[in-house]
Amino acid sequence: MYAAKSPIVNVVINEIGDGKVIKFNRVWTMPNGDTLQMEPVLNFVKSYIQPNIIIIDPFARDCMLATYRNDLNPDTKAEFHMEVMDFLRMLGNKNISADLIIFDPPYSSRQMSELYKSVGMEFGINGGQRFGWKEERNLLNNLVKVGGIVISFGWNSIGMGIKRLYKLEEILLVCHGGAHNDTICIAERKTAHQERLEI
Ligand SMILES: C[S@@+](CC[C@H](N)C(=O)[O-])C[C@H]1O[C@@H](n2cnc3c(N)ncnc32)[C@H](O)[C@@H]1O
Repeated sequence: MYAAKSPIVNVVINEIGDGKVIKFNRVWTMPNGDTLQMEPVLNFVKSYIQPNIIIIDPFARDCMLATYRNDLNPDTKAEFHMEVMDFLRMLGNKNISADLIIFDPPYSSRQMSELYKSVGMEFGINGGQRFGWKEERNLLNNLVKVGGIVISFGWNSIGMGIKRLYKLEEILLVCHGGAHNDTICIAERKTAHQERLEI
């Protein structure tokens, strides 16, 4: 189990009285664009890693934890440098199924348009509408084993959600102080496969 070194809050929530237990922590750490370089975040992810599991990281940047690592930016250490939808389709075509997904997309349209510009791609007028990451999550869902975990990061806690039949297991709020947004980290477990997605 993840144990925060300097928890501000460390509680267990019984969600809406239905017996489902969610772990909830809030910690403080310096902000870092390399999300998994922040120690509490790295520990949060590591707590879900066991030997020999298959991990997919579609937005890996320089993080080397996953079995399949992708990042559109060619100047990163990822193994693949593909548009995320193409990467997820490629894994689907290879029948890869994962125990753990690290889902850490850009958090704002500004971050995304900067990257697109740097790799000579068109951000497009619909680029800013991508922040539900709905289609990406639908493809991702096909790659996750039942019982597998998806860890999502961002400025919201949307995640895979109950419509895709995921159960929220843990929340980590990482406060950075000053004018910074918190980094919101959630871990959800796939309880069954949802074939027909109308999400
Ligand atoms: C929040 S950062 C990920 C940080 C990483 N998890 C870490 O711990 O260092 C988001 C990454 O997504 C990549 N990215 C942005 N848009 C993408 C896209 N459409 N397809 C694939 N990668 C993309 C960016 O290059 C950036 O490195």
